[in-house]
Formats: sequence, C-alpha cells, structure tokens
Amino acid sequence: MRNLREVLEDADRKNIAIGHFNISELGMLNAIAEVARELMVPVIIGTSEGEREFIDTREAAALVKTLREEHDQEIFLNADHTHSLDKIKEAVEAGYDAVLFDGGKLPMEENLRQTKEVVEYVRSRSEEIVVEGELGYIGSGSTIRKEIPKGAAIKPEDLTTPEEAAKFAEETSIDLLAPAVGNIHGMFANAPEPALDIDRTRAVRMAAKVPLVLHGGSGNTDADFLLAIDAGVRIIHISTELRAAWREGMEKSLKEKPEEIAPYKLMGPALDEMKKVVYNRLKLFNKLH
Ligand code: G3H
Ligand code: ZN
Repeated sequence: MRNLREVLEDADRKNIAIGHFNISELGMLNAIAEVARELMVPVIIGTSEGEREFIDTREAAALVKTLREEHDQEIFLNADHTHSLDKIKEAVEAGYDAVLFDGGKLPMEENLRQTKEVVEYVRSRSEEIVVEGELGYIGSGSTIRKEIPKGAAIKPEDLTTPEEAAKFAEETSIDLLAPAVGNIHGMFANAPEPALDIDRTRAVRMAAKVPLVLHGGSGNTDADFLLAIDAGVRIIHISTELRAAWREGMEKSLKEKPEEIAPYKLMGPALDEMKKVVYNRLKLFNKLH
C-alpha cells in the first residue's frame, strides 16, 4: 500500500486534493472511512490537540491502523494544529503519518526556529512522516461564527506572501505549507465565507515549492475549492461542517426517539448526516463525477 507521501505525489499529478476530516470519537472515524472506501479514494483523519486529549493519541493511532489493515484502505492520521515539540513527539511515537506544527500565531523568526526543530526531530525518527508548517493566523476553533475571528488574516495585506512562504519553506524543509489565503477556521450559519484569494494561493504555491494545505474548508464554495486545487492545494481540511451535521443528526434523533437510551441507536442519524458531508466533499476534491 502507498504511504501518504506517495499519495500526495499522485494527487499532484492528478491535480486533485485529499480530504482531511477531524474526529473526536469512533463513530465519526468509521463514518468517514466508510465513505472513502465507497468512493475508493484516500482520506486523512485529523485530531487536534483537544481532540487527541478526548479520544487519546495512541487510541486514535490504533484505530486508524486497524481500519487500514482490515480494509486495505489508504487512510492516514494527522496530528493537526500541534503547538509544541512535546506533543509532536507524542504523536510520532504513537504512529501518526503526518504532523502539523502550528506556529501561525508566532512571530516569523520564532515560527521558523520551532518549525525547523520539529522537522529535524521528525526526520530523525522516520523519513515517511509528512511535516506541515503554518504561516499566518486564520482563527482557531471549528465553530459556527457570527463574525470573522479576531486577529485572523483576511485583508490582502495580512495574507501569506510569496516571499515569506519561500523563505519559510526553504529554511524549515517542511513537506507541506498551510498559508492564510482568505480562509478562516469555522463557518457562518447562513452565509458563505469570504472568497479565497486564488492568485495569492497560486503565487504562494510557486514560491514555496511544496504542496499547500487549505485549512478552514467549511463554508467555502465548491467553485473556490476547485480553483484552489488548480492553484496547488493538495489537502483540504473540513471540520465545522461535520460537527454541525453531527449536532443536527443528534437533535433529530433525540426528538424522534425520546425513549431510546442505546447510544449506538441514537447516533445513527448523526452519522448519516456526517456521511453526506464527507461524500460530497470527497467527490468534489477528487473530481469524481
Ligand atoms: O484543521 C482543521 C480545519 O482547518 C477545519 O476547518 O472547521 O473551518 O472546516 P473548518
Ligand atoms: Zn485547521
């Protein structure tokens, strides 16, 4: 079976993106894995520091490994938004396939220094593990928002520049770069998100010379996703849309079955709602018709 590095190279050749979905419990993981198998596409599961605290770092790695082996499935695990070398080490020791060191909020020189340290550590443990770095702050938290998160880079002058992307990627030797190109974490309840800056995305990709990861995918339009893929995005993160679908499904379920107490019977509709999101996103990102 191919490793994540090979799957990424293939995505680049095919000009498609791999879907990355965050989980915090087993039902979500199984639902995502099932849809990816149905569509026969690779998929990345993400757990942030908070999600890892809940599901447990080693348990998440064991679950993904089990799915991979049982179904011969290209399913990978990413330590999403990790803020310290210690937490990166935990994920690497547990067997994660990829790590994101998130220094997006740090001053450039500090982000450079810490990301470099992470890359050196990860390479010393394995050549297969993919390391992602982050440039620019896009808000934190996959939540339903009323306004753009405070401090998030959204104005053209605040977005990641090709110059800083080139310096950052070259000096750190990261495999993947997560830039701020008009994307934000979270989404609005009833309005689309601001459009992505596609020209900037393309310029950053060319300057960085590594594939890009688009964070904060929830709420962006299909058209923007396709343009971003054409501009060099190879992984797209979706979390808020899944969480919102889970909640909607759970509420429906609790209302329809007021007497039911078996979690697995109550969770069915929540998982079905999430599967619809995953199905549509994976179809689009992989350009399946
Ligand atoms: O790392 C997680 C993602 O970037 C998710 O962002 O909640 O806006 O989909 P989202
Ligand atoms: Zn993210």
